[in-house]
Amino acid sequence: MKVLVVGGAGYIGSVTVEALVTKGHEVTVLDNLSCGHRNAVPADASFILGDTQSDSDLDQALLGHPDAVMHFAALSLVGVSVQNPALYFQNNVVGGIKLLDAMLRHSVGTLIFSSTCSVYGEPTDSPIDETLPLSPTNPYGDTKLAFEKILKWYANAYSMKYVSLRYFNAAGATTACGENHDPETHLIPVVLQVARGLRDSVTINGDDYQTPDGTCVRDYIHVSDLAQAHLLAMNFLMENDRSAIYNVGSERGFSVKEVIDVVRKVTGHPIPTVTGPRRPGDAAVLVASSKKIKEELGWKPEKTDLDTIIGDAWKWQQSHLQTGKPDAVNRV
Ligand SMILES: NC(=O)c1ccc[n+]([C@@H]2O[C@H](COP(=O)([O-])OP(=O)(O)OC[C@H]3O[C@@H](n4cnc5c(N)ncnc54)[C@H](O)[C@@H]3O)[C@@H](O)[C@H]2O)c1
Repeated sequence: MKVLVVGGAGYIGSVTVEALVTKGHEVTVLDNLSCGHRNAVPADASFILGDTQSDSDLDQALLGHPDAVMHFAALSLVGVSVQNPALYFQNNVVGGIKLLDAMLRHSVGTLIFSSTCSVYGEPTDSPIDETLPLSPTNPYGDTKLAFEKILKWYANAYSMKYVSLRYFNAAGATTACGENHDPETHLIPVVLQVARGLRDSVTINGDDYQTPDGTCVRDYIHVSDLAQAHLLAMNFLMENDRSAIYNVGSERGFSVKEVIDVVRKVTGHPIPTVTGPRRPGDAAVLVASSKKIKEELGWKPEKTDLDTIIGDAWKWQQSHLQTGKPDAVNRV
Protein backbone atom coordinates (compact mmCIF):
# COMPACT_ATOMS: atom_id res chain seq x y z
CA MET A 1 0.00 0.00 0.00
CA LYS A 2 0.96 3.64 -0.41
CA VAL A 3 1.30 5.35 2.96
CA LEU A 4 1.97 9.01 3.76
CA VAL A 5 3.66 9.32 7.15
CA VAL A 6 3.41 12.87 8.49
CA GLY A 7 6.04 13.40 11.20
CA GLY A 8 7.88 10.28 10.03
CA ALA A 9 11.34 11.71 10.82
CA GLY A 10 10.57 11.69 14.55
CA TYR A 11 11.05 8.93 17.10
CA ILE A 12 7.89 6.82 16.80
CA GLY A 13 7.28 7.85 13.18
CA SER A 14 10.71 6.67 12.01
CA VAL A 15 10.30 3.27 13.70
CA THR A 16 6.87 2.92 12.07
CA VAL A 17 8.28 3.90 8.66
CA GLU A 18 10.93 1.22 9.14
CA ALA A 19 8.19 -1.36 9.92
CA LEU A 20 6.11 -0.26 6.90
CA VAL A 21 9.07 -0.41 4.51
CA THR A 22 10.03 -3.85 5.86
CA LYS A 23 6.52 -5.07 4.99
CA GLY A 24 6.93 -3.75 1.43
CA HIS A 25 4.71 -0.67 1.67
CA GLU A 26 5.49 2.38 -0.44
CA VAL A 27 6.16 5.19 2.05
CA THR A 28 6.42 8.96 1.71
CA VAL A 29 7.41 11.00 4.76
CA LEU A 30 6.39 14.64 5.22
CA ASP A 31 8.23 16.33 8.08
CA ASN A 32 9.35 19.89 8.83
CA LEU A 33 12.31 18.56 10.87
CA SER A 34 11.42 20.88 13.76
CA CYS A 35 12.06 17.95 16.13
CA GLY A 36 12.90 15.11 13.76
CA HIS A 37 16.02 14.00 11.92
CA ARG A 38 16.37 13.61 8.15
CA ASN A 39 18.71 10.67 8.66
CA ALA A 40 16.04 8.84 10.67
CA VAL A 41 14.06 8.23 7.47
CA PRO A 42 15.08 4.95 5.83
CA ALA A 43 16.54 5.26 2.32
CA ASP A 44 13.63 3.19 0.95
CA ALA A 45 11.11 5.92 1.85
CA SER A 46 10.64 9.19 -0.07
CA PHE A 47 11.08 12.37 1.94
CA ILE A 48 9.38 15.76 1.57
CA LEU A 49 10.60 18.62 3.74
CA GLY A 50 7.30 20.30 4.51
CA ASP A 51 4.85 21.51 7.10
CA THR A 52 1.27 20.52 7.93
CA GLN A 53 0.43 24.22 7.98
CA SER A 54 1.35 24.64 4.30
CA ASP A 55 -1.37 23.73 1.79
CA SER A 56 1.17 23.43 -1.01
CA ASP A 57 3.42 21.07 1.01
CA LEU A 58 0.37 18.94 1.81
CA ASP A 59 -0.79 18.96 -1.82
CA GLN A 60 2.66 17.79 -2.92
CA ALA A 61 2.63 14.98 -0.33
CA LEU A 62 -0.88 13.83 -1.27
CA LEU A 63 -0.39 13.98 -5.04
CA GLY A 64 0.55 10.29 -5.13
CA HIS A 65 -2.90 9.53 -3.65
CA PRO A 66 -1.85 7.36 -0.67
CA ASP A 67 -4.16 4.61 0.61
CA ALA A 68 -3.62 5.82 4.18
CA VAL A 69 -2.09 8.68 6.14
CA MET A 70 -0.35 8.25 9.50
CA HIS A 71 -0.23 11.49 11.46
CA PHE A 72 2.60 11.68 14.03
CA ALA A 73 3.42 15.37 13.57
CA ALA A 74 3.02 17.35 16.77
CA LEU A 75 4.82 19.41 19.33
CA SER A 76 4.73 17.41 22.55
CA LEU A 77 6.54 19.15 25.42
CA VAL A 78 3.98 19.55 28.19
CA GLY A 79 5.80 22.40 29.97
CA VAL A 80 6.24 24.46 26.79
CA SER A 81 2.57 23.91 25.94
CA VAL A 82 1.63 25.54 29.27
CA GLN A 83 3.87 28.55 28.55
CA ASN A 84 2.91 28.89 24.89
CA PRO A 85 -0.49 27.28 24.22
CA ALA A 86 -0.91 29.35 21.04
CA LEU A 87 2.07 27.58 19.45
CA TYR A 88 0.66 24.17 20.41
CA PHE A 89 -2.91 24.80 19.20
CA GLN A 90 -1.55 26.30 15.98
CA ASN A 91 0.79 23.40 15.21
CA ASN A 92 -1.20 20.44 16.55
CA VAL A 93 -4.78 21.52 15.88
CA VAL A 94 -4.64 24.02 13.00
CA GLY A 95 -1.94 21.93 11.29
CA GLY A 96 -4.12 18.84 11.82
CA ILE A 97 -7.20 20.50 10.30
CA LYS A 98 -5.15 21.57 7.29
CA LEU A 99 -4.01 17.97 6.87
CA LEU A 100 -7.61 16.71 6.98
CA ASP A 101 -8.76 19.38 4.50
CA ALA A 102 -5.92 18.46 2.15
CA MET A 103 -6.91 14.79 2.43
CA LEU A 104 -10.47 15.73 1.44
CA ARG A 105 -9.16 17.75 -1.54
CA HIS A 106 -7.27 14.66 -2.71
CA SER A 107 -10.04 12.16 -1.83
CA VAL A 108 -7.84 10.38 0.71
CA GLY A 109 -10.05 9.21 3.56
CA THR A 110 -8.04 6.95 5.89
CA LEU A 111 -6.04 8.31 8.84
CA ILE A 112 -4.18 6.84 11.82
CA PHE A 113 -3.60 9.47 14.49
CA SER A 114 -1.02 9.61 17.32
CA SER A 115 -3.03 10.48 20.40
CA THR A 116 -1.93 10.19 24.01
CA CYS A 117 -2.93 9.01 27.47
CA SER A 118 -2.70 12.73 28.43
CA VAL A 119 -6.30 13.03 27.18
CA TYR A 120 -7.38 11.31 30.44
CA GLY A 121 -5.66 13.91 32.66
CA GLU A 122 -5.49 12.57 36.22
CA PRO A 123 -7.73 9.50 36.06
CA THR A 124 -9.50 8.25 39.15
CA ASP A 125 -9.37 4.63 38.03
CA SER A 126 -6.62 2.22 37.00
CA PRO A 127 -5.96 0.58 34.60
CA ILE A 128 -7.21 3.23 32.17
CA ASP A 129 -9.63 2.04 29.54
CA GLU A 130 -11.15 4.06 26.70
CA THR A 131 -14.39 4.73 28.61
CA LEU A 132 -12.80 6.86 31.37
CA PRO A 133 -13.58 10.60 31.38
CA LEU A 134 -11.43 12.81 29.17
CA SER A 135 -10.00 15.74 31.08
CA PRO A 136 -6.49 16.86 30.03
CA THR A 137 -4.56 18.90 32.57
CA ASN A 138 -2.35 20.76 30.08
CA PRO A 139 -2.65 22.39 26.62
CA TYR A 140 -0.69 19.58 24.93
CA GLY A 141 -3.26 16.97 26.02
CA ASP A 142 -6.04 19.34 25.05
CA THR A 143 -4.66 19.74 21.51
CA LYS A 144 -4.83 15.96 21.12
CA LEU A 145 -8.36 15.77 22.52
CA ALA A 146 -9.46 18.67 20.31
CA PHE A 147 -8.13 16.89 17.24
CA GLU A 148 -9.86 13.64 18.23
CA LYS A 149 -13.15 15.59 18.40
CA ILE A 150 -12.47 17.17 15.00
CA LEU A 151 -11.73 13.74 13.57
CA LYS A 152 -15.03 12.42 14.90
CA TRP A 153 -17.04 15.15 13.16
CA TYR A 154 -15.05 14.97 9.90
CA ALA A 155 -15.63 11.20 9.81
CA ASN A 156 -19.32 11.79 10.52
CA ALA A 157 -19.75 14.32 7.72
CA TYR A 158 -17.24 13.36 5.04
CA SER A 159 -15.87 10.27 3.40
CA MET A 160 -13.28 9.67 6.09
CA LYS A 161 -12.46 7.05 8.74
CA TYR A 162 -9.73 6.94 11.34
CA VAL A 163 -8.07 5.10 14.17
CA SER A 164 -6.82 7.18 17.07
CA LEU A 165 -4.11 5.43 19.08
CA ARG A 166 -3.71 6.77 22.60
CA TYR A 167 -0.12 5.89 23.40
CA PHE A 168 1.22 5.53 26.91
CA ASN A 169 5.03 6.02 27.30
CA ALA A 170 6.90 5.02 24.16
CA ALA A 171 10.36 3.66 24.94
CA GLY A 172 13.10 1.42 23.54
CA ALA A 173 14.58 1.38 20.06
CA THR A 174 15.17 -0.80 17.04
CA THR A 175 18.71 -1.42 15.80
CA ALA A 176 18.47 1.53 13.42
CA CYS A 177 16.04 3.99 15.01
CA GLY A 178 15.71 5.39 18.51
CA GLU A 179 14.83 8.36 20.64
CA ASN A 180 16.79 11.58 20.18
CA HIS A 181 14.87 14.62 21.39
CA ASP A 182 16.42 17.99 22.18
CA PRO A 183 15.65 18.76 24.91
CA GLU A 184 15.09 15.21 26.13
CA THR A 185 12.34 15.04 28.74
CA HIS A 186 11.40 11.35 28.74
CA LEU A 187 12.56 9.38 31.77
CA ILE A 188 14.38 6.43 30.17
CA PRO A 189 16.59 8.39 27.71
CA VAL A 190 17.29 10.97 30.42
CA VAL A 191 18.47 8.30 32.90
CA LEU A 192 20.56 6.72 30.13
CA GLN A 193 22.19 10.13 29.57
CA VAL A 194 23.39 9.91 33.19
CA ALA A 195 24.92 6.52 32.40
CA ARG A 196 26.66 8.07 29.37
CA GLY A 197 28.14 10.82 31.54
CA LEU A 198 26.09 13.63 29.96
CA ARG A 199 24.26 14.43 33.21
CA ASP A 200 25.50 14.16 36.78
CA SER A 201 22.25 12.82 38.21
CA VAL A 202 18.56 12.33 37.55
CA THR A 203 15.90 14.26 39.43
CA ILE A 204 12.99 12.32 40.90
CA ASN A 205 10.00 14.66 40.77
CA GLY A 206 8.30 13.80 44.05
CA ASP A 207 8.58 10.67 46.20
CA ASP A 208 5.45 11.14 48.30
CA TYR A 209 2.81 9.79 45.89
CA GLN A 210 0.32 7.09 46.91
CA THR A 211 2.38 4.36 45.21
CA PRO A 212 4.41 1.47 46.71
CA ASP A 213 7.72 3.41 46.69
CA GLY A 214 6.26 6.94 46.60
CA THR A 215 7.33 7.71 43.00
CA CYS A 216 5.08 7.99 39.94
CA VAL A 217 4.14 4.82 38.09
CA ARG A 218 4.02 4.76 34.28
CA ASP A 219 3.32 2.23 31.53
CA TYR A 220 6.24 1.81 29.08
CA ILE A 221 5.47 0.44 25.65
CA HIS A 222 8.23 -0.68 23.29
CA VAL A 223 8.31 1.54 20.22
CA SER A 224 8.39 -1.45 17.85
CA ASP A 225 5.20 -2.83 19.44
CA LEU A 226 3.69 0.64 18.97
CA ALA A 227 4.72 0.59 15.31
CA GLN A 228 2.97 -2.77 14.87
CA ALA A 229 -0.23 -1.24 16.31
CA HIS A 230 -0.16 1.26 13.41
CA LEU A 231 0.12 -1.48 10.81
CA LEU A 232 -2.79 -3.35 12.40
CA ALA A 233 -4.83 -0.13 12.57
CA MET A 234 -4.20 0.46 8.86
CA ASN A 235 -5.31 -3.08 7.98
CA PHE A 236 -8.39 -2.64 10.15
CA LEU A 237 -9.37 0.54 8.28
CA MET A 238 -8.83 -1.17 4.91
CA GLU A 239 -11.23 -3.95 5.91
CA ASN A 240 -13.83 -2.05 7.96
CA ASP A 241 -16.06 0.91 7.38
CA ARG A 242 -15.81 2.43 10.83
CA SER A 243 -13.46 4.44 13.00
CA ALA A 244 -12.05 3.46 16.38
CA ILE A 245 -10.05 4.68 19.36
CA TYR A 246 -7.60 2.45 21.23
CA ASN A 247 -5.28 2.74 24.21
CA VAL A 248 -1.85 1.31 23.50
CA GLY A 249 0.21 0.39 26.52
CA SER A 250 1.93 -2.65 28.01
CA GLU A 251 -0.63 -2.82 30.87
CA ARG A 252 2.22 -2.91 33.41
CA GLY A 253 3.28 -0.06 35.64
CA PHE A 254 6.83 0.74 36.72
CA SER A 255 7.76 3.43 39.23
CA VAL A 256 10.47 6.02 38.56
CA LYS A 257 12.67 4.25 41.12
CA GLU A 258 12.11 0.88 39.43
CA VAL A 259 13.10 2.35 36.05
CA ILE A 260 16.28 3.79 37.57
CA ASP A 261 17.11 0.43 39.18
CA VAL A 262 16.75 -1.36 35.84
CA VAL A 263 19.00 1.25 34.18
CA ARG A 264 21.59 0.59 36.91
CA LYS A 265 21.38 -3.15 36.20
CA VAL A 266 21.50 -2.80 32.40
CA THR A 267 24.30 -0.20 32.23
CA GLY A 268 26.33 -1.05 35.34
CA HIS A 269 26.34 2.67 36.22
CA PRO A 270 25.37 3.83 39.76
CA ILE A 271 22.95 6.58 38.52
CA PRO A 272 22.95 9.19 41.30
CA THR A 273 19.52 10.68 42.04
CA VAL A 274 18.24 13.93 43.51
CA THR A 275 14.72 14.15 44.90
CA GLY A 276 12.83 17.28 43.92
CA PRO A 277 9.26 18.48 44.45
CA ARG A 278 6.26 17.09 42.57
CA ARG A 279 5.56 18.56 39.13
CA PRO A 280 2.11 20.12 38.85
CA GLY A 281 -0.27 17.92 36.89
CA ASP A 282 1.67 14.65 37.29
CA ALA A 283 -0.76 11.82 38.02
CA ALA A 284 0.43 9.18 40.53
CA VAL A 285 -0.31 6.17 38.31
CA LEU A 286 -0.95 5.94 34.54
CA VAL A 287 -1.32 2.35 33.37
CA ALA A 288 -3.26 1.30 30.28
CA SER A 289 -5.86 -1.28 29.71
CA SER A 290 -5.08 -2.38 26.14
CA LYS A 291 -7.83 -5.01 26.18
CA LYS A 292 -9.77 -3.31 23.38
CA ILE A 293 -6.92 -3.18 20.83
CA LYS A 294 -5.92 -6.74 21.72
CA GLU A 295 -9.45 -8.04 21.22
CA GLU A 296 -10.42 -5.99 18.15
CA LEU A 297 -7.13 -5.75 16.23
CA GLY A 298 -5.32 -8.81 17.59
CA TRP A 299 -2.45 -6.61 18.79
CA LYS A 300 0.10 -8.55 20.84
CA PRO A 301 3.02 -6.60 22.32
CA GLU A 302 6.18 -8.69 22.22
CA LYS A 303 8.65 -6.65 24.26
CA THR A 304 6.88 -5.85 27.53
CA ASP A 305 9.85 -6.70 29.73
CA LEU A 306 11.42 -3.48 31.09
CA ASP A 307 14.96 -4.92 30.93
CA THR A 308 14.48 -5.50 27.18
CA ILE A 309 12.98 -2.04 26.58
CA ILE A 310 15.78 -0.28 28.46
CA GLY A 311 18.42 -2.62 27.03
CA ASP A 312 17.34 -1.74 23.47
CA ALA A 313 17.37 2.00 24.23
CA TRP A 314 20.82 1.65 25.84
CA LYS A 315 22.27 -0.25 22.85
CA TRP A 316 20.87 2.38 20.50
CA GLN A 317 22.19 5.35 22.49
CA GLN A 318 25.62 3.75 22.69
CA SER A 319 25.82 2.96 18.99
CA HIS A 320 24.23 6.15 17.61
CA LEU A 321 24.79 8.94 20.11
CA GLN A 322 28.42 8.39 21.10
CA THR A 323 29.28 12.07 20.88
CA GLY A 324 26.17 13.29 22.64
CA LYS A 325 26.31 16.35 20.39
CA PRO A 326 22.99 17.97 19.48
CA ASP A 327 23.54 17.12 15.81
CA ALA A 328 23.74 13.41 16.52
CA VAL A 329 21.16 11.63 14.40
CA ASN A 330 18.54 8.96 15.00
CA ARG A 331 20.16 6.70 12.48
CA VAL A 332 23.52 6.08 10.85
N1 LIG B 1 6.84 9.68 22.68
C1 LIG B 1 5.80 9.33 23.43
O1 LIG B 1 5.93 8.64 24.46
C2 LIG B 1 4.40 9.76 23.03
C3 LIG B 1 3.33 9.43 23.91
C4 LIG B 1 2.05 9.81 23.51
C5 LIG B 1 1.82 10.44 22.30
N2 LIG B 1 2.88 10.75 21.49
C6 LIG B 1 2.61 11.42 20.21
O2 LIG B 1 3.18 10.63 19.19
C7 LIG B 1 3.67 11.45 18.13
C8 LIG B 1 5.11 11.13 17.86
O3 LIG B 1 5.86 11.29 19.06
P1 LIG B 1 7.46 11.30 19.02
O4 LIG B 1 7.93 11.07 20.40
O5 LIG B 1 7.91 10.43 17.92
O6 LIG B 1 7.70 12.83 18.66
P2 LIG B 1 8.84 13.48 17.75
O7 LIG B 1 8.94 14.91 18.15
O8 LIG B 1 10.08 12.65 17.80
O9 LIG B 1 8.22 13.39 16.28
C9 LIG B 1 7.31 14.30 15.77
C10 LIG B 1 7.73 14.64 14.35
O10 LIG B 1 6.77 15.55 13.79
C11 LIG B 1 7.46 16.59 13.12
N3 LIG B 1 6.57 17.75 13.10
C12 LIG B 1 6.08 18.45 14.15
N4 LIG B 1 5.27 19.44 13.73
C13 LIG B 1 5.22 19.35 12.38
C14 LIG B 1 4.54 20.07 11.37
N5 LIG B 1 3.76 21.11 11.67
N6 LIG B 1 4.71 19.71 10.08
C15 LIG B 1 5.52 18.66 9.76
N7 LIG B 1 6.20 17.93 10.67
C16 LIG B 1 6.05 18.28 11.97
C17 LIG B 1 8.75 16.79 13.91
O11 LIG B 1 9.79 17.38 13.14
C18 LIG B 1 9.09 15.36 14.30
O12 LIG B 1 9.90 14.71 13.33
C19 LIG B 1 3.42 12.89 18.57
O13 LIG B 1 2.21 13.31 17.97
C20 LIG B 1 3.25 12.78 20.08
O14 LIG B 1 2.42 13.80 20.57
C21 LIG B 1 4.16 10.41 21.83
